[in-house]
Amino acid sequence: MTLADRTTRIAGSPTMKVTATVDRLRRSGVEVIDFGAGEPDFPTPDAIKAAAHAALDANFTRYTPAAGIADLKRAICDRYRSDYGVEYTESEVIVTAGGKQALYNTALSLFGPGDEVITHAPYWPTLTEQIKLADATPVLVRTHPEDGFAVHAKTILDAVTPRTRGIIVNSPGNPTGALIAEAELKAIGEVAARQGIWVVVDLCYEKLIYDRVPHNLPRVLAETCRDQAVLCGSASKAYAMTGWRCGWQIGPAPVIAASAAIQSHSTSNVTSITQKAAVAALLGSQAPVTAMLDEYRKRRDRLHAWLAADPRLRCRKPAGAFYMFVDIGDVLSTEGFRTSLDFADALLDESRVAVTPGEAFDAPGTIRISYATSMENLEEGSARLLQFVGRHAPHAATAR
Ligand SMILES: Cc1ncc(COP(=O)(O)O)c(C=O)c1O
Repeated sequence: MTLADRTTRIAGSPTMKVTATVDRLRRSGVEVIDFGAGEPDFPTPDAIKAAAHAALDANFTRYTPAAGIADLKRAICDRYRSDYGVEYTESEVIVTAGGKQALYNTALSLFGPGDEVITHAPYWPTLTEQIKLADATPVLVRTHPEDGFAVHAKTILDAVTPRTRGIIVNSPGNPTGALIAEAELKAIGEVAARQGIWVVVDLCYEKLIYDRVPHNLPRVLAETCRDQAVLCGSASKAYAMTGWRCGWQIGPAPVIAASAAIQSHSTSNVTSITQKAAVAALLGSQAPVTAMLDEYRKRRDRLHAWLAADPRLRCRKPAGAFYMFVDIGDVLSTEGFRTSLDFADALLDESRVAVTPGEAFDAPGTIRISYATSMENLEEGSARLLQFVGRHAPHAATAR
C-alpha cells in the first residue's frame, strides 16, 4: 500500500496517545490517575451551555459562513480590544475548529517548500508537525530550565537565515508554562517587520497566567509588525470548552482571506451551536475564568510543594498554563530507567499514574504533569510518584 509522501514525515499526537492509553485502561476496569490530560477538568460554565441550548432550541443548526458568524467575529474583536487594546475588524478574523485549526490554517497560508520556520523547544508537537504538513522545515531553538525556559529574542534571531519565513512563539508555553517577555517579542517583531518574516503567536493559554506580569503580546505585535503578525487563540482552555472545538485566527486581511478559502474547502464552518456558545463565552462575565485560574493556582502551589519533597524531581512553578514540567534526569540511569519514556511507561504500569514523557516535546529526561485534575488526584498521584521514585532510584537519593 502506498500512502502519500507527507504521511511519512509526520507522527500522530504523542500527547493524545497518553489520553488514549488511559481511556483503554479505564475501559478495562483499571483505575488510573491521569496527569496526562491537556484539558480543563472543569465543566463548561453554565452561561455558555445555556447559549448552546438556546441556539439548538432556535434551530440554529445549519451551515454558517465558513469563516464564522459575524456575531462571533465581532465578539472576538471586542474581547481583544478590551483585553489588549488592539483594534481588529471582521475581515481580519476567522473562527476555527480550536486553536489547532487556527495554527494549521496559518501554516498552510504562509509556509511552503524551502521555507524555514523557527520555534522554541521544548514545544507542543503539533506546531512542528503542522510546519512539516505545509512542506516547510521546522528550525528549533532550545530554551533551558536554568532560566525557566525563557524564550530569548537573540537565540531566535540567531537562527534566522535567508530562508526563514516565519517564527512561531507559544506563550504561555506548553509544556513549560513559560512566558515570553514583552521586550523579547518586541525585538523579534522589529526584525520580522524589517525582513518580512511572519510572527505567529499561539495564545491558547493566554487566560491562564498566574501573576500580574506584563504579557500584552497582541499589542506588542500591533506596534512592531502588525502586517506580519498572526494571533491564534482558543476557547478550549480558557472556558473549559475543549470538546466544542472553537478557536480563532487574527491577522492581516489577505492572510485571513487565504485561510478562509482553505477552510471553506476542508472543514467549513465550526459547529453552528458552538459558535453561539463562544459568543456567550467571550462577551459574558469572565468570572468563571478567574475562578478556574484561582483553583489551578492552588493546585500548582500544592503540587509543587509535594514534589519538592524529593530533590530528584526538579521543577519550578510554571508562570502559566497548567503543567508542571519536571526534570527527572537524576532518576534515570543505565541500570534503571534509561529514558523518561521508560519511566513513564513503568509508572503507569506499576503505580497507575499517567504522565506525558518529555520525548513528546523533544525534551527527553523530563515528564509533564498536568494539574488540570482534582486536588485529591494530585495528592494521591504525587504520593504514588514519590514512592515509585523512592523504590526505583534509591541510589540517587541526595542527587542535588
Ligand atoms: C500550545 C497549544 N496550542 C494550541 C492548542 C490547541 O488547542 P485547541 O485546538 O483545543 O484549541 C493546544 C492544545 O493542547 C496547545 O497545547
